[in-house]
Amino acid sequence: MNISIGVADRVFVLTGAGISAESGLPTFRASDGLWAGHRIEDVCTPEAWVRNPALVWEFYSARRAQGAEAMPNPAHIVLAELEQRLGDRFFLCTQNVDDLHERAGSKRLLHMHGELAKARCGEDCGEPPIEDRTVYKNLNEVGRCVCGARLRPHIVFFGEVPLEMDRIQAEIRKATMMVVIGTSGSVYPAANFVHWARQNGARTVYVGPERPLNASAFTHVVEGNAGQVLPGLFT
Ligand code: APR
Ligand code: ZN
Repeated sequence: MNISIGVADRVFVLTGAGISAESGLPTFRASDGLWAGHRIEDVCTPEAWVRNPALVWEFYSARRAQGAEAMPNPAHIVLAELEQRLGDRFFLCTQNVDDLHERAGSKRLLHMHGELAKARCGEDCGEPPIEDRTVYKNLNEVGRCVCGARLRPHIVFFGEVPLEMDRIQAEIRKATMMVVIGTSGSVYPAANFVHWARQNGARTVYVGPERPLNASAFTHVVEGNAGQVLPGLFT
């Protein structure tokens, strides 16, 4: 299949864990995925952070170590090249917390679920996130915010509101085409983006090896691995 992008098109791309699968990073909901080996409520909720910050940091330190080993794959590179071609008619929103999109060259990029390479105040005093790629071996190594609170991973936990939703909604309103890659369609509000795009009359395409939960909302579903399907998909 070919998706032709015309001079009047504005493309909004949403990616999920599947786009990094071919880089060797596990997805969340596969039978051998991250949520098969860890309980969400132990490592990825505000309650987990209060109850056992050591376990939360252990989980995200492991993600940092794994992320540092991974390299962008052809799917990340195709999206960076598409941005080069389209300029400000392109926007990339990722649910991923890895940095493979930026390492492939993407710049018009928003991490709606946070970033592994950052930490922020564990009590959200208002200080902005800071760069932090440390793989912590124990909780005592974790630094403190200027307010004294322990730093937490700059990750949107379950039950928290994704980052920069206003900007995301504005970009979706402008889009004539939405391309969604490698996400199971099970986490909201990201799973709703396709519906918002459709309401504005945009074409909507999904790329991934399995049909997502919200598959029926797409005008096209292209079944295959992102690294194989994306090169050559856009004309
Ligand atoms: N190419 C494209 N898609 C793939 C590939 C691949 N090579 N391999 C797997 N996939 C697809 C799977 O078919 C699945 O639909 O990637 C999707 C991964 O789904 P999830 O594990 O649910 O990951 P995601 O949708 O990104 O999760 C959303 O859930 O836990 C939270 O905050 C976390 O951002 C994450 C959110
Ligand atoms: Zn603080």
